[in-house]
Amino acid sequence: MKIDYVKARQVFDSRGNPTVEAEIKAGKIIERAIVASGASTGSNEAIELRDKETAFKGKGVLKAVSNINKKINSKLKGMGISAQKEIDSAMLELDGTENKSVLGANAVVSVSMAAARAGAKAKEIPLYQYLGELAGNKKFVLPVPQMNVLNGGKHAGLENDIQERMICPIGAKTFNEAMQISTEIYHILKSLMKKKFGSVAGLIGDEGGFVAQIKNEEEKLELILKAVEEAGYLDKVSLAIDCASSEFFKDGNYFIGEKKFSAGELTDFYSELTEKFNIYSIEDGMAEEDWIGWKQLTAKLGNKIQIVGDDLLVTNIKFIEKAIKEKSCNALLLKVNQIGSVTESIESANLSFKSNWNVVVSHRSGETEDSFIADLAVGLGAGQSKFGAPVRSDRNAKYNQLLRIEEALGKNAVFGKK
Ligand code: PGA
Ligand code: ZN
Repeated sequence: MKIDYVKARQVFDSRGNPTVEAEIKAGKIIERAIVASGASTGSNEAIELRDKETAFKGKGVLKAVSNINKKINSKLKGMGISAQKEIDSAMLELDGTENKSVLGANAVVSVSMAAARAGAKAKEIPLYQYLGELAGNKKFVLPVPQMNVLNGGKHAGLENDIQERMICPIGAKTFNEAMQISTEIYHILKSLMKKKFGSVAGLIGDEGGFVAQIKNEEEKLELILKAVEEAGYLDKVSLAIDCASSEFFKDGNYFIGEKKFSAGELTDFYSELTEKFNIYSIEDGMAEEDWIGWKQLTAKLGNKIQIVGDDLLVTNIKFIEKAIKEKSCNALLLKVNQIGSVTESIESANLSFKSNWNVVVSHRSGETEDSFIADLAVGLGAGQSKFGAPVRSDRNAKYNQLLRIEEALGKNAVFGKK
């Protein structure tokens, strides 16, 4: 089946910002995909093309839309719809830059995802299976969700703050049970927040978690563990944090709340938190440029817990290879729009698996109703996802899709971390 056309339109994300929706037609098949967008972005991410004109305070994406309608459409028209690699390479060739700055990563990735959907349809198989085939993986796994229930940093308008505190129902037997555990904890946390800080404490940040008016990190984590305990799930739930520490790294030091840390002191601080609060995973514990700090952190904690690189790696093979060589971390945070195509995302995941790293498939803080990454997590057999709190449909679109996939897999459904 051949591609008849590719076209695009400007739609809106969960923060009310413009984003790109691509549409692809091949025979009777029409499929779409929408791009997510980050706030605490890594500086080496592929370029998200914004119009930089007066409309939407410069955030319009009509140039990316036009690149799809004109250049990408002419290039892809007539290609086989199930040739994902060729489709992605054709777009990379057309762009011709390392960071997709000509066409825009938002243009390329939306078409890439829509093409994968259409490719799966043409083969009459589910998207997760199609993505699994592209990755050479046959073991479909429902991921343990890392759910960000207490938002901070840029997602909550706070400075010098750890960005995400997540509950992870590692001890659940199924994804279904993981959802029950997580939502029960979420609701208890909401009432604890309201009891402590009044009704406004029930309001939420960009990823659906609450925003605590607490300065002290330990107090925040204690509150979450209290909710876990009250819900009766202390034996099934571990915690994870995403520090997004590039945001509080200044002149070689880290600033959290009122405190200043060197990389070594910060490592000791994380080590204490890990012991005290049953933390199994720390993401972006060090800043993206602090490769020495990363190495120290992994040397100290990497044999006990998961050390995840997000801004450090930007889902890019070049940085993943460096981090493998330097033992900078032991897990990849995989964000499709960070690198800008499905094929490259799969390559990044496979390189990580080959090095015995874990892979966490992730959303962005600005999300949409598109649930592509739910299928991707299952298709890769990654075993872990990071899609935000289990509220608001931009996040629950992914969780609901995982529930459907688990149901479809039936007795063959496998849940859990690698
Ligand atoms: P972002 O945040 O989507 O705003 O970059 C998510 C993360 O840091 O993991
Ligand atoms: Zn992150």
